Amino acid sequence: MLNLNAKYRNTVETVAKQIPFEPEICIVLGSGLGDFAEKVETIKSIATSSLPQYPISTVQGHHGFLHFSKYADKKLMIVQGRIHFYEGYSISQCVLPIHIASKLNCCIIILTNAAGGVNPNFKPGDLMLASSMNGINIKKELASLIGLTSLEKRNSFLDFPSKDLSEKIRKASLEEKILLREGVYWLTKGPSYETPAEIKMISKFGGDAVGMSTVHEAIYAASIGLKTASISCITNFAAGLSPQKLSHQEVIETAEMVKKDFERLVKKSIELI
Ligand code: HPA
Repeated sequence: MLNLNAKYRNTVETVAKQIPFEPEICIVLGSGLGDFAEKVETIKSIATSSLPQYPISTVQGHHGFLHFSKYADKKLMIVQGRIHFYEGYSISQCVLPIHIASKLNCCIIILTNAAGGVNPNFKPGDLMLASSMNGINIKKELASLIGLTSLEKRNSFLDFPSKDLSEKIRKASLEEKILLREGVYWLTKGPSYETPAEIKMISKFGGDAVGMSTVHEAIYAASIGLKTASISCITNFAAGLSPQKLSHQEVIETAEMVKKDFERLVKKSIELI
């Protein structure tokens, strides 16, 4: 079993030396949603390229920064520049931002992502709160990360998503009058987008949105006792559900379109936490 404490001691210590405060809420920004970091007061930004052992984010729209910021009197750690499987990174590398947040005593994690809409009622531009997740295809990697040594840890994913945190996000959507869908986020590892046949299967099995991140971060966060929820920005119809060819450009463009609502939803959620 991997020992993240040992593997990333140096990384955590390098961050800990520079932080202006211990963050209360960690927000991981998904593809095209990185601008949110500029919409709150930044106190200190740490380039992830300056951190020992921190993977380099190679994806367009993912800047590599850990921002220590403030909004509504809350202390935030904003992760700009997610690390993905499809870039060739391992699960322990992908969950590093969550590990760092937990080591800085942060207890609340809001994960965000861009996702393809599988549910026929969803359209590009919709926001979706995850009611549950499917990570069936990463169980092996998760076992090596979380281990099977503790029954408590094995059961802890049952606490995802945090009811309390989800309720605050729902309340925020009502107060801001933003339509918030709810559904199952389904992880595919990439590296390419899904085939129409894969989407058909995911749909039959109850998936509402599909994406290449978040689930392992959520499972890891829940396993170490952090309150966690996830918000997806539906950026496109999943493969085969529209005649249009799927592209990262479309993902970025739709995220751009929805970023004002996204910002209002996340800001109001922070206020209510
Ligand atoms: N599939 C996988 N990941 C995604 C998609 C998609 O359709 N859209 C945005 N991220």
